[in-house]
Amino acid sequence: MITIHTIAELRAALSKERFKGKRIGFVPTMGNLHEGHLQLIDQAKSCSDIVVSSIFVNPLQFGAGEDLDNYPRTLIADQEKLASRGCNFLFAPTDAEVYPHGREAQTQVEVPVISDMYCGESRPGHFRGVSTVVCKLFGMVQPDVAIFGEKDFQQLMVIRRMTEDLSLPVEIQGAPIARNEHGLALSSRNGYLSPEELKTATVLNQTLRKTREALLSGSKAFSELEEQAQNMLETAGFKRDYYKICRRSDLQAASEDDNAIVIVAAAYLGPARLIDNIQIDL
Ligand code: PAF
Repeated sequence: MITIHTIAELRAALSKERFKGKRIGFVPTMGNLHEGHLQLIDQAKSCSDIVVSSIFVNPLQFGAGEDLDNYPRTLIADQEKLASRGCNFLFAPTDAEVYPHGREAQTQVEVPVISDMYCGESRPGHFRGVSTVVCKLFGMVQPDVAIFGEKDFQQLMVIRRMTEDLSLPVEIQGAPIARNEHGLALSSRNGYLSPEELKTATVLNQTLRKTREALLSGSKAFSELEEQAQNMLETAGFKRDYYKICRRSDLQAASEDDNAIVIVAAAYLGPARLIDNIQIDL
């Protein structure tokens, strides 16, 4: 695997591959890679000839008081993991390479409505930062296909919408959520949890499964189910953020006629804010 730090070198390397007719698959990340990221690499490999991953802890998507400074940076270990899964190129730019005129002066990409709900409400400006950096990375890598984890379901929807609205020639694929043996969705932020909190964290997925069972057995009392779920999380030791039964097509609150559902959830546990979701076909 070749690690590249500048846009010029990246373009030179990838234009050679494109000239040879290679299909380029892209997996953007913020590093501190775990098995979930590596499964995105596997998926990219299965649908492209050359796999590019990026590691960039994007300051634009962190709000004031969030974990930008403490976000784990583990480049050497990440390089080994990517190479072991057959990633061909790692793009690891500096802040100055990505935002040469400074963050304040950066043109930004805003995907309306969907960016303002749920995680967008709890983390104002977060999705603007994500859309902006992903749009820029697409311009740098010019991939044929890009893979994003379904754990960040709302992020995946924001990116799909941005790609469509800006007519970007990139196929967006979602990848299933990778979980540990207790059902906890893998996340770099799990590393902030103590062993005790890690056990409690599994309640988030258990709660989602419980709501799914209720929906599959015919309950349409969505608000009641959401409230029960929030109570279950609080009893386990979480602090509330959101828990919402949604229509999968646009993440609006589900109505009784909707069949394609996703329950999206975020909750605070100790020093971490955890998110998870579950898709249901009624
Ligand atoms: O999901 C992430 O790790 C980040 O939001 C992304 C897509 C790499 C953009 O910085």
